[in-house]
Amino acid sequence: MKEVFNGSAADVHVYDKAFPQPKQKGQPSPEGHVPKHIDHFSKFSPSPLSMKQFIDFGSINACEKTSFVFLRQELPVRLSNIMKEINLLPDRLLTTPSVQMVQSWYIQSLMEILEFLDKNPDDHKVLTEFVDALVTIRNRHNDVVPTMAQGIIEYKEAFPHDPVTNQNIQYFLDRFYMSRISIRMLINHSHSALCCIVNLIFFFYLCFASDAFHSAKMLCDQYYLCSPDLILQEMNTEKNNHPISIVYVPSHLYHMMFELLKNAMRATIETHESSNNLPPIKVMVSLGGEDMSIKVSDKGGGVPFRRTDKLFSYMYSTAPAPQIGEDTRPPLAGFGYGLPISRLYAKYFQGDLQLYSMEGYGTDAVIYLKALSTDSVERLPVYNKTALKNYKVSQEADDWCVPSKEPLDVSNFKVAK
Ligand SMILES: Nc1ncnc2c1ncn2[C@@H]1O[C@H](COP(=O)(O)OP(=O)(O)O)[C@@H](O)[C@H]1O
Ligand SMILES: [Mg+2]
Repeated sequence: MKEVFNGSAADVHVYDKAFPQPKQKGQPSPEGHVPKHIDHFSKFSPSPLSMKQFIDFGSINACEKTSFVFLRQELPVRLSNIMKEINLLPDRLLTTPSVQMVQSWYIQSLMEILEFLDKNPDDHKVLTEFVDALVTIRNRHNDVVPTMAQGIIEYKEAFPHDPVTNQNIQYFLDRFYMSRISIRMLINHSHSALCCIVNLIFFFYLCFASDAFHSAKMLCDQYYLCSPDLILQEMNTEKNNHPISIVYVPSHLYHMMFELLKNAMRATIETHESSNNLPPIKVMVSLGGEDMSIKVSDKGGGVPFRRTDKLFSYMYSTAPAPQIGEDTRPPLAGFGYGLPISRLYAKYFQGDLQLYSMEGYGTDAVIYLKALSTDSVERLPVYNKTALKNYKVSQEADDWCVPSKEPLDVSNFKVAK
């Protein structure tokens, strides 16, 4: 039987169930086959799912068999696409113990899913084993973000001045973490057995904003012994006076709101330390025909325009680095992952997150989400020639003039009389 993947990129191949191939001489362990499997599956483009498809997969009436057959193909494709990119990292980073560990988790998980390629979807035992395997894989990958971050810290300490590679690492991490978000979403939401009622995607927005606010407020009170108030406003241009609700992933929305509120609180308190009155944080939610936008505004003094790009860079933080392990309290800030990861969550379903800051006054952070579930389709990285090119960028001369530090001596240009 042959099936065709309908990926979005040019590389669409025909999937051959005859894979995996028999062991060859000189390759006694199954790991020996892994590069071949990665090569094979990375030739397929991942197939982006829409919010509607996730809801159908997770519903009580969903067919377990369909999602099994889909996942045993799609998970290896997504894993292999990103594993190809891990291999393109600079050697000095790839060989750090932390990145090696992450890579071994990916290899192990890929192999565990491949076990199911030739199993019978009609066998109920197979389906149960598959769900168990997915849970094991999900748990194995719980610490991917801090472990990868640790690898980058080790690398940056050893090679601090490497601007080109910094750019590559940013490009890689955005894609790597996006791929991880998508794989976890597949595991959590495309199998009714793993998708309990709380995970249902339908969601009423305002409860969530205040939930995230209360968690951020608790942290903030612990650190600073005070916290600003919240003013929540909503604007529903679609249905006058109706409370706003959209179909979205609750945990993703909570994550974004929590991170933005923590940032707004920290900025507010640090700029108004000496005053008794903390200006409140305003959250404005607006639903239109195409977008649902959420603006978090603070009067926390803002950020100079020159630095706004840097805020989305992994590891950039103006807070002191938190000490892992010494303190059991979760830190309020300091890893520098809050904004870049929140932006990935927003982009994952075709939205975005942008920061508008006025130095001396405050910051507006805006999350843009698709109002219609039909527009919310996964945005997934694909390993292809264009991606490859991005890992090969070399440092080229700037095509804009760099102003000289010394003032130009214009008198040299005087025309002799
Ligand atoms: N609302 C804000 N006002 C002022 N500065 C901000 C705001 N949000 C973010 N920043 C700046 O951006 C940096 C990165 O933010 P983030 O990615 O959340 O990491 P972290 O909070 O761990 O430092 C912060 O350290 C801070 O300097
Ligand atoms: Mg933060």
